[in-house]
Amino acid sequence: MSIIGAGVVGLGVGWRLVQAGCAVDLFDAGTAGRGASWAAAGMLAAGVETEPGEEGLLALTRASQAMWPGFAEELRAVTGIDPDLREEGTLVLALTRDDLARLRANVAFQERLGIELRWLGARELREREPFLRPGIAGAVLSPHDHQVDNRALVTALVRAFTAAGGRLHEASPVEAVVIEGGRVTGVRAAERCLPADAVLLAAGAWSRRIQGIPPEALPPVRPIKGQMLALRMDPAAPLLRHVVWAPKVYLVPRRNGRLIVGATVEERGFDATLTAGGVLALLESAWRALPAIEELPIEEMWVGFRPGSPDDAPIIGPTPVAGLTVATGHHRNGILLAPITIEATARLVLTGERPPEIRPFGLERFARHGSRAPAMSEEASA
Ligand code: GLY
Repeated sequence: MSIIGAGVVGLGVGWRLVQAGCAVDLFDAGTAGRGASWAAAGMLAAGVETEPGEEGLLALTRASQAMWPGFAEELRAVTGIDPDLREEGTLVLALTRDDLARLRANVAFQERLGIELRWLGARELREREPFLRPGIAGAVLSPHDHQVDNRALVTALVRAFTAAGGRLHEASPVEAVVIEGGRVTGVRAAERCLPADAVLLAAGAWSRRIQGIPPEALPPVRPIKGQMLALRMDPAAPLLRHVVWAPKVYLVPRRNGRLIVGATVEERGFDATLTAGGVLALLESAWRALPAIEELPIEEMWVGFRPGSPDDAPIIGPTPVAGLTVATGHHRNGILLAPITIEATARLVLTGERPPEIRPFGLERFARHGSRAPAMSEEASA
């Protein structure tokens, strides 16, 4: 079995397959986990990130959110690395009356979907987060939307996969999937062909760069650029404890004092430039909610590429090529959806059967209107 892409999905599926007794070669063009999985903020926001048009995704995001405590604990127990699931919940802020009107409409939409939200009074908000700007127009608590440290998560998954016996090939871009007679027979990397009876394509926004795959089996993903930065708080006296969504920005405080500020959403291909305008907009929006950030040192700034799909939902399932499975397109929800994607994809590869929770998210939904959907091979066994 070969896996292309050592992000959280590739590493996690690889780990499960090795545990099940498969021999797994996992290839990454760079260092494992340093793509979107590293750039992410780690928010597990099945509630407040649900937007109109994404109602069909909610069952999947909620199911994955519910798996997170067990998944984090298992990783910690197996590897000794704690993905640091923080369970303070998420606050959504309205700073002005216009923001408040928008927040009321969002809350009404999310409550209609059964998402639990609670308006906070000024005193409770001040008790929970004393450093927020005074006089905030309104605030809502989403008590089930938490966060993990995605970089610790990646480090834990690398250890879990390799300690279980998985073979990790870093700085080893897969050039092509080798297909003969309509089925996968191997992968080509560094001009060498490695036989494989099954291949998982989990290369995020880069998934379409792999050669040899017919167009109808290539997931329609594109990079969605995000600029982000991290400030350094005093971990003994942090300015923030909850994840906070304020207009045009989110803030994610880590226990170690890092304060993640994100993120732009840009259609710029693989342009990895940090721009003055992008960073200025993030800092200005963050400062409007939490003025005390003015004194904090900037620790890091970076760009990540979310794997966007045409309907913003993931693409998980078999392809018209026998033995070729895809798991990508997670857009803004990669870390949240990691546990369910990992378990369902591993089950698909091991049994050849598509678990019901991922059936709505197959590649066949993008078959052109009026044309026949390509026949999906359910056969993907390792
Ligand atoms: N889920 C946060 C982001 O995509 O920026």
